[in-house]
Amino acid sequence: MAQRKYRLTDRLIMALDGLLRADAPEASGADVPSPAVAIADSVLAGKANAESARLMRVNHTGEICAQALYLAQASLARAETTRQMLENAAQEERTHLRWCAQRLEELQASPSHLNGVWFAGAYVLGLASAAAGDSVSLGFLEETEKQVVAHLDEHLGKLPVADRKSRAILLQMRRDEARHASRAASMGARALPAPVRGLMRLQAMVMKTVASRI
Ligand SMILES: [Fe+2]
Ligand SMILES: [Fe+2]
Repeated sequence: MAQRKYRLTDRLIMALDGLLRADAPEASGADVPSPAVAIADSVLAGKANAESARLMRVNHTGEICAQALYLAQASLARAETTRQMLENAAQEERTHLRWCAQRLEELQASPSHLNGVWFAGAYVLGLASAAAGDSVSLGFLEETEKQVVAHLDEHLGKLPVADRKSRAILLQMRRDEARHASRAASMGARALPAPVRGLMRLQAMVMKTVASRI
């Protein structure tokens, strides 16, 4: 049977639809439970609550971007093993997204209002990296995850000490992201040139600065 060819806009709409359903509260308990569930809640003081909310809003947006990147990369992957790896990673990012969404709700904070924009931007970026071939695509994933691990270390240092729930989430995410990076490396990821890595850091910095506010 002939495979249906999807246009970029079709793929984007399908991916967005999946994202919206994944973020729905009723889907929250559908897969791996949040590491925060096992931890007793503690009331955070106003300032600490605001700081945790600001950090978790950024992490929520980061998981949206990760999912968009990997879904886009999977859609153009040449090898079946690459496609499966990317889809598995996207699935785990969706789980992370739910954990962050749950925590934001507990902190009585809302996600970034620009999440649709971040998703679309990351999706296009994912398509561009995948168009260059699987080894570049895997190299892009490896570099992304390395930068995310460094970012999570920074956030773990900034998180209010009393916020043990958010800390448990970030620690588990850090373990998963490091595993995504080493998996890509083991599958033949090509190292990206330094200017590209620098541009990725710059783009992430813009996203983090804006998402922490809007
Ligand atoms: Fe993640
Ligand atoms: Fe990841």
